[in-house]
Amino acid sequence: MKVLAPVIASLASVSLCAANAVHLPRDASPETWAVDAIARALPNSPSGGYSPAVVQCPANRPTIRNADSLSPNETAWLPIRRNVTVDPMISWLTRMNITDFDAASYINGIRNNATALPNIAIAASGGGWRALMNGAGFLAAADNRTSNSTNRGQIGGLLQASTYVAGLSGGGWLVGSIYTNNFSSVEDLRDGSKDSNVWKFGNSILEGPNGDGIQLLSTADYWSTLHDEVGSKADAGYNTSITDYWGRALSFQLVNATDGGPAYTFSSIAQQDMFTSGSIPMPFLVSDGRAPYTEIVSLNSTLFEFNPWELGSWDPTTYAFAPLQYVGSNFSAGVVPSDGDCVEGFDQAGFVMGTSSTLFNQVLVVLNSSSVPSIVSNVLETILSDIGFDNNDIAQYQPNPFYHFNNATNRNANSTELTLVDGGEDGQNIPLYPLIQPNRNVDVIFAIDSSADINNWPNGTSLVATYERSLNNTVENGTAFPSIPDQNTFVNLGLNNHPTFFGCNASNMTGPSPLIVYVPNSPYVYPSNVSTYQLTYNDTERNLIIRNGYEVATQANGTIDAQWPTCMACAVLSRSFTKTGTTVPTVCQQCFDRYCWNGTVDSTDPANYLPSFKVGEIKSAASSVRVGTMVSVAAVMVAMLFM
Ligand SMILES: *[C@@H]1O[C@H](CO)[C@@H](O)[C@H](O)[C@H]1NC(C)=O
Ligand SMILES: *[C@@H]1O[C@H](CO)[C@@H](O)[C@H](O)[C@H]1NC(C)=O
Ligand SMILES: *[C@@H]1O[C@H](CO)[C@@H](O)[C@H](O)[C@H]1NC(C)=O
Ligand SMILES: *[C@@H]1O[C@H](CO)[C@@H](O)[C@H](O)[C@H]1NC(C)=O
Ligand SMILES: *[C@@H]1O[C@H](CO)[C@@H](O)[C@H](O)[C@H]1NC(C)=O
Ligand SMILES: *[C@@H]1O[C@H](CO)[C@@H](O)[C@H](O)[C@H]1NC(C)=O
Ligand SMILES: *[C@@H]1O[C@H](CO)[C@@H](O)[C@H](O)[C@H]1NC(C)=O
Ligand SMILES: *[C@@H]1O[C@H](CO)[C@@H](O)[C@H](O)[C@H]1NC(C)=O
Ligand SMILES: *[C@@H]1O[C@H](CO)[C@@H](O)[C@H](O)[C@H]1NC(C)=O
Ligand SMILES: *[C@@H]1O[C@H](CO)[C@@H](O)[C@H](O)[C@H]1NC(C)=O
Ligand SMILES: *[C@@H]1O[C@H](CO)[C@@H](O)[C@H](O)[C@H]1NC(C)=O
Ligand SMILES: *[C@@H]1O[C@H](CO)[C@@H](O)[C@H](O)[C@H]1NC(C)=O
Repeated sequence: MKVLAPVIASLASVSLCAANAVHLPRDASPETWAVDAIARALPNSPSGGYSPAVVQCPANRPTIRNADSLSPNETAWLPIRRNVTVDPMISWLTRMNITDFDAASYINGIRNNATALPNIAIAASGGGWRALMNGAGFLAAADNRTSNSTNRGQIGGLLQASTYVAGLSGGGWLVGSIYTNNFSSVEDLRDGSKDSNVWKFGNSILEGPNGDGIQLLSTADYWSTLHDEVGSKADAGYNTSITDYWGRALSFQLVNATDGGPAYTFSSIAQQDMFTSGSIPMPFLVSDGRAPYTEIVSLNSTLFEFNPWELGSWDPTTYAFAPLQYVGSNFSAGVVPSDGDCVEGFDQAGFVMGTSSTLFNQVLVVLNSSSVPSIVSNVLETILSDIGFDNNDIAQYQPNPFYHFNNATNRNANSTELTLVDGGEDGQNIPLYPLIQPNRNVDVIFAIDSSADINNWPNGTSLVATYERSLNNTVENGTAFPSIPDQNTFVNLGLNNHPTFFGCNASNMTGPSPLIVYVPNSPYVYPSNVSTYQLTYNDTERNLIIRNGYEVATQANGTIDAQWPTCMACAVLSRSFTKTGTTVPTVCQQCFDRYCWNGTVDSTDPANYLPSFKVGEIKSAASSVRVGTMVSVAAVMVAMLFM
């Protein structure tokens, strides 16, 4: 167990806004929150802190709806967003240089036709900090606000043309961090700002933030802050679980506000000006429903999506959505009865991010039994004895919003609690679920895979899981997915070593499905296959992993393939070309010949997958101080506890 100690030297992070914090960061006064509110306009929990609170029910009492359509909110928002994507799309497609094709006149010709206009989504997989950073590299490359990202060979602007962005687990931290920080760019989050510890992954999540030279919270204070905050939720009558602590601790790294913004809610994203005006894509986080002590696979999981308006599932089991702002209310059979309370603030942003990443709860459990400083282990012991070990890998949503709703099919219909776990637990580690729903009509998904399948590189396992699920009539519920080969084929043909398109031929599918642009993590300039359970990264290593993800996204500024940006644009246009009956430009045909999986299979056992650098390793001091080996011992233990 002592071997786990290095883990401790790892994670936490975010510092506090010094001006406020000097004051008394863990008991932020209402004035302090007002300051944060000006910065980001999100801390709207009615309690003013971490705890949910009873509010007066609105005139139209909140209800649960069946999952037979998009929400009225999304339906109203979409035309606004889709229209806002038109000009960025023209600008982006034009820069992507499709020879003999006038992107501007093509898009202008369909700008008022949502069916024909490309509908773009980006999905960032789970995989802890590795996934956060590798995904961040892609998003930075796709973001026109990133320095030089609109130069030749670059792909900046894709993000501005996208309708949806989804994240799960570590990818959910990325998406959650960007959205709770007012859609900050990756570059800004990476570089931070004075007295902010956002994305300072060199600090241990167990030790707490270090405040850039002004030590604002001692480790003891940090833990008692977490303990008090989670205690306030328990005192208000809500069951808590390790996920509450985990989400709170994570927030210090991810949310740039005093104490990680305990009053920030995920549903408040729906009220941000940038979002309501359609200036930014719609975000999703994904979690799996799972009862304690059971195991799930993609074929029998019930998946849940969080979006700014709702929490719910399209699956034929739960098949329902709850208004996220009011999750925590006493719903029964789809309504809050006249004697039931309406509650807000349950969807605390860090708790939602923690819910999508409960796999990491185990880190706290494992650490509890290792040689951590006594101050930390004492607090952890109190926490664990308070809440017990029973539910140490789930997030408790109690009361269950779907109680007595869809009785016949909803597995949790008769349970007063809904238990949610890490979105990758059923093997679908890329959050494609919200994006392949037929109601959303997505045309193309950039699927960033940072999974640790083989030597901490991906091998297509996640796509295989989603594909298999799409073939099962009991669970697929109208979703279709391109044909995906087995993992041996992925490795043998190198489909996991360079971007690959799946589903190029729209007519050769069980139903309408997006084209998948699979973007696997692979080594360009840095060995970014760090262990999922490596919990600390100094700034140099963090920046190199983000940089590597950026090189993957641009194929090293087009040096691996000068036509890569063009090929991305062709993927974006592919479904639209089919719908409008447009002849595919020659250069796009060349791209499809090169990047589309053509159906070839080679299922023989591959040699060990040890990819070499596509550009060349940038050596850094970070490599020599990596604690990966030690931590992977923790990973094995975690896996044992878990599986
Ligand atoms: C979502 O739509 C419902 C019904 O139209 C409306 O009452 C509610 O205010 C909307 N929510 C937000 C956050 O806009
Ligand atoms: C769509 O966006 C354009 C600017 O790109 C704007 O002029 C137009 O009014 C918008 N249309 C709608 C219906 O919102
Ligand atoms: C990025 O794209 C948006 C939307 O098209 C545009 O308003 C903005 O000026 C662009 N920013 C840069 C730095 O190019
Ligand atoms: C556009 O692509 C053509 C051929 O595909 C290439 O010759 C040309 O240099 C490219 N132009 C730019 C600005 O990248
Ligand atoms: C952007 O490009 C300029 C000119 O090539 C270069 O000097 C600068 O370092 C680049 N910035 C980044 C962040 O790569
Ligand atoms: C963090 O918040 C402070 C205070 O609101 C702000 O000035 C700063 O720009 C933010 N930093 C980042 C990286 O978002
Ligand atoms: C899901 O399937 C697995 C393997 O088939 C089985 O072990 C597990 O009990 C099932 N779980 C549920 C909730 O049905
Ligand atoms: C399809 O899914 C159902 C429900 O989870 C499961 O019981 C069944 O075994 C699956 N069918 C196949 C062929 O895998
Ligand atoms: C679901 O079953 C419960 C318990 O039998 C019952 O009270 C409730 O009314 C049912 N819900 C619906 C919508 O029929
Ligand atoms: C919930 O209870 C009702 C009434 O007792 C029953 O009809 C229904 O099948 C139960 N649902 C589940 C999923 O167990
Ligand atoms: C692919 O990854 C899975 C784990 O996700 C592993 O079990 C399997 O052996 C790997 N196969 C290959 C060929 O790498
Ligand atoms: C929109 O585009 C689709 C696909 O090209 C076409 O079938 C449909 O008729 C168009 N709708 C309008 C109103 O032009």
